[in-house]
Amino acid sequence: MIIAIDGPAASGKGTLARRIAAHFGYQCLDTGLLYRAVARDLRAAGQPLDDVKAAEWAAKSLDPSTLDDHGLRDPGVGEAASVVAKIPEVRAALLAFQRDFAAQEPGAVLDGRDIGTVVCPDADVKLFINANVEVRARRRFEELKSRGEPVTYEHVLDTIKARDARDAGRADAPMTIADDALLLDTTDLAIEAAFDAAVGLIMRKIGR
Ligand code: CDP
Repeated sequence: MIIAIDGPAASGKGTLARRIAAHFGYQCLDTGLLYRAVARDLRAAGQPLDDVKAAEWAAKSLDPSTLDDHGLRDPGVGEAASVVAKIPEVRAALLAFQRDFAAQEPGAVLDGRDIGTVVCPDADVKLFINANVEVRARRRFEELKSRGEPVTYEHVLDTIKARDARDAGRADAPMTIADDALLLDTTDLAIEAAFDAAVGLIMRKIGR
C-alpha cells in the first residue's frame, strides 16, 4: 500500500503524513528532507547551490542516516532545498531511494511535491493538501517562533510565496496536482480535523 501526499510549503502535509503512517502502521518518508540534506551537504562542501555536477554528487552520496539532523528544518535550508530541487540530475539521483522506500510492506506514506505525479504514479491513494497562503505562512511563522527563530510574519509570507512559485514553475517534476489526487484544503481545519478528513478520504478510496 502506497499513500502519496503532496502539497505546498506549510500546508500540513508533513504532520498529516506522520499521523496517517502511525494510524495504519506504515513507514513514513518526508521527501523534502532529501532535498534539504543535499543543500546542507553542498553548503558544507563550500559549493554553490546551482553547481550541477557538485549537486548531483551530493545527491548520489547522500547518507540517509543523516536525515534526522535537526538543522535540516531551518528556514534557510528549505529555501536552499528548492534551489537544488530544480536540478534534474539531483531529482534523478534521489528517485531510486524514494521508490525503494515506497515498496516496503505492509505500506508506506511519502510526502513531498511530486510523489503522486513522478515518484509513485501508481500509488493506491494520492492526497493533495492545500491551504490559503496566509494561513500557511501564519502556521510556519508560529512554528519558527516557538523554535526561537528571529523571523517576522511578513518575511515568512514572502519566502513561502517565492518557494511555491519556484516549486510550481520548474521544468522537471513541478509541484502539480495529479489527475487522480484527492484534494484536502486545511485552511479552516485544525490538525485533528484535518487528520480525520484525510483518513476518511483514504478509507473511501480503498473501499474500507
Ligand atoms: O516542509 P516544507 O513544506 O516547508 O518543505 P519540504 O517539504 O521540506 O521541501 C523543501 C523543498 O524541497 C521544497 O520547497 C521543494 O523545492 C523540494 N522538494 C521537492 O522538490 N520534491 C519533493 N518531493 C519534496 C521537496
